[in-house]
Amino acid sequence: MSEATRFRDPANQSMVLTALYIAQEQYGYLSQEALARVAERLELPISQVYSTASFYSLLRTQEKGKYHIQVCEGISCALCDGAEKLVDYLEEKLDIQPGEISPDGMFSLEVVQCLASCGTSPALRVNDELHDDLNFDKVDRLLDQLVEREEA
Ligand code: FES
Repeated sequence: MSEATRFRDPANQSMVLTALYIAQEQYGYLSQEALARVAERLELPISQVYSTASFYSLLRTQEKGKYHIQVCEGISCALCDGAEKLVDYLEEKLDIQPGEISPDGMFSLEVVQCLASCGTSPALRVNDELHDDLNFDKVDRLLDQLVEREEA
C-alpha cells in the first residue's frame, strides 16, 4: 500500500482514538514513545496521531497523577459561578496548581473546556468518571472517597 493510500485509509484512521485510549490505559499517559507506537502500528503520520491525542481532553499527553482531576471552565460552568471557585478550592485542598502533580503522585489538576454536562454544571472529571452538579461538600466527599480507596 502506498504512503498516500494509507493516509486515506478510513479503517486506520477510525482506530486512532481506540488505540490511543488503550495505550493510555497501559502506560498511564500518552508519552512520545506511546504516540510513536500508535502511529507505527496504524501506519499513520505521527503528526496526525499527536493532533488527535492533544484535541481530546480525555487523552493525556503528559504524565498525570493517579487521579487526574479536570475541572470544566466552559461557559455553562462559568455562568453558574462554579468553575473558578472549584479550581480555587481544589488548588487549596490539594496544594497544587493546574498543570501540577501532588508530591505523592496521587492527584493532578487541569482546567478544561466543556465536559458535556452543561445541564448539570458545574462539573469535573476524575480520570474517566464525570461528577456534576458540584458544590464544595460534594468535592470533599469525592476526595475523601479517593483517599479511602487508596487506603483500602
Ligand atoms: S460548560 Fe461545563 S460541562 Fe459544559
